[in-house]
Amino acid sequence: MKIILGPASKALGERISELTGYSKIPVASRIFPDGESYVRLEGSVEAEDVAIVQTTCPPQDARLMQLAFMVAAAKRNGAKKALAVVPYLGYARQDKVFLSGENVSVETVAVMLEAAGIDQLVVVNVHSEAALERFPFPAKSVSAIPMLAEYFVQKGVKGAFALSPDKGAMNISLQAQKVLGGGVGHLEKQRDRYTGQTTQSASHLDVQGKSVIIFDDIISTGGTIVGAAKILRDQGATHVYTACVHGLFIGDAEKRILDAGVEEIVTTDSVPSHLSKVSLAPLISQELKAQT
Ligand code: R5P
Repeated sequence: MKIILGPASKALGERISELTGYSKIPVASRIFPDGESYVRLEGSVEAEDVAIVQTTCPPQDARLMQLAFMVAAAKRNGAKKALAVVPYLGYARQDKVFLSGENVSVETVAVMLEAAGIDQLVVVNVHSEAALERFPFPAKSVSAIPMLAEYFVQKGVKGAFALSPDKGAMNISLQAQKVLGGGVGHLEKQRDRYTGQTTQSASHLDVQGKSVIIFDDIISTGGTIVGAAKILRDQGATHVYTACVHGLFIGDAEKRILDAGVEEIVTTDSVPSHLSKVSLAPLISQELKAQT
């Protein structure tokens, strides 16, 4: 297998290449003045299985086009199998029709990648695993939550309460609890499907005097974490931290979260930033090794 270093995840791809021992193929990329994307594989893929590492965080549409172009270029240049490693799968939250007239965007993304020639997909903590089952090629989600929880254990925050900001993310906090060994719970979150506005509430949580880590798959504007942190403070939590797999941190999200009293924000290199304190490289390398 060879690792193709997608422009959105070059550093991660390099670490995966080092850990697996699979050789890497650099990619020349450019955005033309009119906004169109260009990619060129700088190495031979003839008769090879390739893993194309490319996250699809903002600007999602350009990242997706680059991914489709790399898949198609790999196939056009003789690759046997094109496996895409997409840590953050854009459009995964539009995984069903919420209001009539909408599209299931993540399915359209899958169809687009199928047309480009993708054979298989590995993602990290996709928003809804059910959506992957409807993809027209094998697609799997692996979880970085145990590694994020382990980060806190290493910092001495063992026994912390693992909290999900909504019931749907409870599987995430249960995974964290296994590592942390403390309590577990979730808040309630309602979203107005027309305005996108959310409201959060909680029945009594047993967090008085405790350290709490809020785990979520995505932090975007930070609104969910800010709201959750306020509820936790009201319920007597002494220390509040947050961890997410995909840290988009739109606008002043980081500042708003810290201003809400969250002591530390931890995320992965799914979306590279100065808060990417946990690398996905070991997790993805293990998955690629298991594939071969
Ligand atoms: C939504 O259900 C996701 O799991 C996240 O909770 C959400 O995307 C976070 O968005 P924001 O940071 O804008 O509140």
